[in-house]
Amino acid sequence: MKILITGASRGIGLFLLKQFKAKGYDVFGTFSSTSPEEELKVNFTRVDVANTEEVQSWINLVVTEEDDIVLLNCAGINYNSTARRADVDDWMHVIDVNLGGAFRTINAVLPLMYKKGFGRIINFSSVVAQRGIPGTSAYAASKSALWGMSRTIAVENAKKNITVNNINLGYMNAGMTLNDVPEKLREEMLQQIPIGKLGELDEIYKTVKYLVENDYITGTSIDLNGGLF
Ligand SMILES: NC(=O)c1ccc[n+]([C@@H]2O[C@H](COP(=O)([O-])OP(=O)(O)OC[C@H]3O[C@@H](n4cnc5c(N)ncnc54)[C@H](OP(=O)(O)O)[C@@H]3O)[C@@H](O)[C@H]2O)c1
Repeated sequence: MKILITGASRGIGLFLLKQFKAKGYDVFGTFSSTSPEEELKVNFTRVDVANTEEVQSWINLVVTEEDDIVLLNCAGINYNSTARRADVDDWMHVIDVNLGGAFRTINAVLPLMYKKGFGRIINFSSVVAQRGIPGTSAYAASKSALWGMSRTIAVENAKKNITVNNINLGYMNAGMTLNDVPEKLREEMLQQIPIGKLGELDEIYKTVKYLVENDYITGTSIDLNGGLF
């Protein structure tokens, strides 16, 4: 089984790459601006998921139709602005990376998965798309669009043992929540989580593993959010 992870140079993607590598899987990650650690360089290719040719070249490089492929779409960005003040190009870029990037990788792997009769695709969506948080319209739009896209592609490929699902993450003790959110705001977010703590990376790994091992869950999402809606 080959595990492909976009946005694996930091945060959640990097954690998942290290976990699957430690368990002995063949793992292939992408980075765009953050260089991977020296000992992991062999596992990485530089790919901008907003660039169709780069995505296709990466898939051509790392997998063939003989492989059982698991694709984890972790690459993601945020753009914080109210709609009234937003720059349209910056807004659209979020859609192109978060939604377009996931579609480009799926489009590139599907013919191989189809021939092999196996595939697992997991996209990372967000509780932010469910809540309506001021300043997040680009991010929320890109993440909620993953739900409709995944359900449709799941149905298109359901007879081929290819599943397509999302993990709707809440506020995790990692990645963009940990590094990009000011501490005071993070404290406020924490107060809103019914379980009373940020989500830990290991919970993500366990959920990914569950979806990879299950061939009867497709076209849906798992809310991994400590009860936050
Ligand atoms: N952390 C959370 O609490 C949380 C909550 C809900 C959802 N999520 C979602 O989970 C996923 C991972 O989040 P994270 O917290 O780990 O984020 P992160 O730490 O900010 O990492 C983002 C990753 O995306 C990559 N990336 C950004 N733009 C890219 C592009 N154009 N092409 C290719 N790769 C690109 C980055 O690569 P470079 O650094 O190399 O540019 C990096 O590896 C994201 O989709 C995010 O929306 C996270």
